[in-house]
Amino acid sequence: MKVFTKNSELTAFLDTKREAGLEIGFVPTMGALHKGHLSLMGYAQQQTDISVCSIFVNPTQFNDKADLERYPRTPEQDLAMLEAANCDVVFMPSVEEVYPEPDTRQFSFGLLDEVLEGARRPGHFNGVAQVVSRLFDRVKPHRAFFGSKDYQQVMVVKQLVQNLHLNIDVVACPILREADGLAMSSRNMLLSEEERQAATLIYDVMQVSKSMKEKKSSVLATRQAVISILSKKSIYQLDYFEICDAKTLKAIHSWEESKHVVGLIACYVGKIRLIDNLVY
Ligand code: PAF
Repeated sequence: MKVFTKNSELTAFLDTKREAGLEIGFVPTMGALHKGHLSLMGYAQQQTDISVCSIFVNPTQFNDKADLERYPRTPEQDLAMLEAANCDVVFMPSVEEVYPEPDTRQFSFGLLDEVLEGARRPGHFNGVAQVVSRLFDRVKPHRAFFGSKDYQQVMVVKQLVQNLHLNIDVVACPILREADGLAMSSRNMLLSEEERQAATLIYDVMQVSKSMKEKKSSVLATRQAVISILSKKSIYQLDYFEICDAKTLKAIHSWEESKHVVGLIACYVGKIRLIDNLVY
């Protein structure tokens, strides 16, 4: 496994692979790796010839400084996991290497970044677009693999690739869950034991919403049921639960409004904000 910290060394190495006709698969991460990331690596390895993983905690996508400081960092463990997973290339740049000067670009994604995470975390998707476009420029992957837990992020990245006319196939990979249903996330390691147990309710309420749809309860009643379950215990603070068109993220008010529907949730468990979604 090659580990690079400098753009020039990474691009020189990958250029030779590309020129030899090999396809490059890219998994961008912020480290604190878990099995969900390794499953993305698995897709990259199945579908391309050279697997590249980046580890970079991107400051421009954090609108809350405390959240950036608290974000878990486990570089040695990450490298050991990637080595064991037969990753070919790791890119671990410094902040100065990625942003030699501040990135002032403003991206526009319309409704996609005005709702849900975009509304709650102003500037978040602009920061994601800044770093992903820079990483894409350096890695020049044929395919890039993203986890569907960050449903809105995948949509934004697909839009970014279109807006910048990049020839990159953005692959949305399935959410990996713990045995009790909790979506795997680097943030899970910040939960106390009590919070970790409580966090399973997020998946449970998503299942409740799914069965309510199947039983033909209204969208309003379904939303209210989820809100009411989570409001009963003070450990949870629901940020949003929305039922949306899966292709536009426009909130729907009746199931008939849309053929493909997704439920999206963001909820604090204690101080830790977790997100999840379910395509019905
Ligand atoms: O999903 C993440 O871990 C990050 O948002 C990403 C895509 C690596 C960009 O920093």
